[in-house]
Amino acid sequence: MPKNWKTKLIHTDAKIPTGFRSLSAPVYRGSTVLFPDAASVSDDWDQYEVGYTYGLYGTPTVLELAARICELEGGYRTLITPGGQSAISLINLALLKAGDHILVPYSIYGPNRHFAGRLLKRFGVEVTFYDPNIGGDIQSLITNHTRLVWTESPGSVTMEVQDVPATSEAAHAAGALVVLDNTWSAGVYFDAFAHGVDVSMQALTKYIGGHSDLLLGSVTARTKEVFHRIGAAQQLIGTAVSPDEASLALRGMKTLAVRLKAIETSALELAHWLATRPEVELVLHPALESCPGHEFWKRDFSGAAGVFAIVFRRQFSKEQVLAFVDSLELFEIGYSWAGVTSLAVAYDFRGNKNRPDYGHRIVRLNVGLEDAGDLKNDLENALNRMK
Ligand SMILES: Cc1ncc(COP(=O)(O)O)c(C=O)c1O
Repeated sequence: MPKNWKTKLIHTDAKIPTGFRSLSAPVYRGSTVLFPDAASVSDDWDQYEVGYTYGLYGTPTVLELAARICELEGGYRTLITPGGQSAISLINLALLKAGDHILVPYSIYGPNRHFAGRLLKRFGVEVTFYDPNIGGDIQSLITNHTRLVWTESPGSVTMEVQDVPATSEAAHAAGALVVLDNTWSAGVYFDAFAHGVDVSMQALTKYIGGHSDLLLGSVTARTKEVFHRIGAAQQLIGTAVSPDEASLALRGMKTLAVRLKAIETSALELAHWLATRPEVELVLHPALESCPGHEFWKRDFSGAAGVFAIVFRRQFSKEQVLAFVDSLELFEIGYSWAGVTSLAVAYDFRGNKNRPDYGHRIVRLNVGLEDAGDLKNDLENALNRMK
């Protein structure tokens, strides 16, 4: 039918050549998804089963990212969330109800611990925090109501590598699911599903994105049943992801292997060198024997990422530790590791009786892609200034 120009703005007959092929994933935008006819209209969330129904449940760009993460981690299927923390909250909200009990290691990413201790408790979920070095003895903490055992390996800041297979065995014997924050290994250096994990989540914000310019998370389930429980909850919670963020993450993934390799080499060189420095009491790098759980890293991991921590000797005051961080020139100060820029952050565990006795003396380093020699010089200059 003839169209007024105003209608043409919305319903165009303009044609462009077809057959464009490139190497980058197209960015598909869309809240509304078109149905071929009235009878096809559906609000089902599982786009794999019903086709595309609504942008909230994933455009092709977001689903491509999900499928690629799933391919790397080897699970049944993956959901993408707006950040790592929303992946954590989604898993908890999807899999727990009032009266359930969960186990959470003291070493887990702080906001994960707080979600359990502050929010889940308010909703009637019983939470027990546990020592990440407990291994198979976790069995003694499991009750008839235990539904989830959270793990993060290595742990945030204090870097304890957990015995995930022993934890999984104990959890499964009691009918509980095991969830792993697999961010440090980028989903590739630790094969979560081969070690008994049921749900593996990552902050894609970190190594997958890799350039400190996006926020995304992933939740990968081992089975269809668990995927459906989490997917159905995500529909109701309503967390959608922008295709722009997803396309950045897809771009980041292409260079993951070379970034990880370069970062691993530099971080190991720096960690070994830092262990020889008189100012440093302990290097908490999973590939070094000084790291709690090093034997599990050696047994279960195929590589090491670039985040580790150093603990200064007891003689150093908090002011001296902060001055060390401040005097670094190449290591910037900031959260959200795994980008190309090296970072340093000082932590203070004083007053926390459940964490190792590192007090104010612990500094977490994120090694980026700068020249390792320059990074060493930077650390050396800052250490020399501590005297
Ligand atoms: C181990 C770990 N898990 C989860 C998160 C949360 O990720 P996001 O910042 O994308 O919410 C972080 C962020 O620092 C993290 O370090």
